[in-house]
Amino acid sequence: MLHAKMECKRFVLLIILAFVLVPVNCDESSLNGPYNRGIEECYHCKTNPRGLQASSDRPVCIKCRCCAGAVSDHFQSDQFEKMFSNRNSLEVEDHENKGFLDYESFITASAHYQPYGFGTTYIHGNFFGTKEVAAFLAHVATKTSCENKVGTMKQLARDSCYNKEMNSNSDYCDEHYKNIYPCIPGVAYYGRGALPFYWNYNYGEASKDLKVDLLSHPEYIEQNATLAFQVALWRWMTPIKKHQPSAHNVFTGYWKPTKNDTLAKRVSGFGTTMNVLYGDLVCGQGDNESMNNIISHYLYYLDLMGVGQEKAEPREVLSCAKQVAFNPSSSSP
Ligand SMILES: *[C@@H]1O[C@H](CO)[C@@H](O)[C@H](O)[C@H]1NC(C)=O
Ligand SMILES: *[C@@H]1O[C@H](CO)[C@@H](O)[C@H](O)[C@H]1NC(C)=O
Ligand SMILES: *[C@@H]1O[C@H](CO)[C@@H](O)[C@H](O)[C@H]1NC(C)=O
Repeated sequence: MLHAKMECKRFVLLIILAFVLVPVNCDESSLNGPYNRGIEECYHCKTNPRGLQASSDRPVCIKCRCCAGAVSDHFQSDQFEKMFSNRNSLEVEDHENKGFLDYESFITASAHYQPYGFGTTYIHGNFFGTKEVAAFLAHVATKTSCENKVGTMKQLARDSCYNKEMNSNSDYCDEHYKNIYPCIPGVAYYGRGALPFYWNYNYGEASKDLKVDLLSHPEYIEQNATLAFQVALWRWMTPIKKHQPSAHNVFTGYWKPTKNDTLAKRVSGFGTTMNVLYGDLVCGQGDNESMNNIISHYLYYLDLMGVGQEKAEPREVLSCAKQVAFNPSSSSP
């Protein structure tokens, strides 16, 4: 009897502790995803004790991050069509990718990553979802573009031509990972998807997350637009290496720069997403044309999404012209 009572007390104490600890943990904890490099699960944090504010039906996030709603709540198909307005046109008729990436596929693919915060993140009560969709699709547009020119609107509207890397001549098989992610003979792991991703280990890890065998069937990505967006979102949400931030985390500002990051001029915001995704191919090169092209897509898309480019970050945060790459190309595979 006594023993049972003690147990019960202990149990109550545990419950109380749990309630005390949850809000404290909220700010700092990083929930480990099921995969090595860890897509972090977004979580609902402590809401305003008075509940939701009467003036708004959005959750109020006092000190940490939460996710709510869906991308389709704030992003409609006519906006997508404006972003990729020439994707069906005669001008891109020669390309096999004509009309391939479509709104429905993007929304379906997003649903998988919304619980991790894609397009649904609030931090300290600020909503990042609309801007994040603009940022992600700006990368997609430049990476799948037919004409890599700094954007006048006409040129921007030509985008979304390619769904795989052109002129690839490597099979991108890293033997180092062959025990975990064996390369299938005759199959090449070159850049595919709405944001091209490469290498057997990336195909292998994305396979686990998406539950599709992309190691054996990378060609699915070229045939299925939902998958093409899903692998791109996987790329956006997943750090390149352990202990590095994902593009999602640097964009939303959930990532906190270390002293080394500050020395390397890396701050949270749009500019650093380019550093995460492309490193020194685009960043730390001064006023690089590729970099400016991606930035101008982002600004144009902020307008199309009704946010307005005047709400973009200041130039030094938008740009990565002076940043040192997280992973210098000389040292990464
Ligand atoms: C395309 O991929 C999605 C996501 O993996 C899957 O649910 C869907 O069934 C696929 N469509 C076809 C036609 O295979
Ligand atoms: C910071 O940079 C130095 C020099 O490159 C390195 O030795 C150190 O491990 C870095 N610290 C962190 C926390 O990454
Ligand atoms: C800058 O951008 C161009 C594309 O306009 C690219 O070819 C080049 O490699 C980039 N990097 C440097 C260092 O100029």
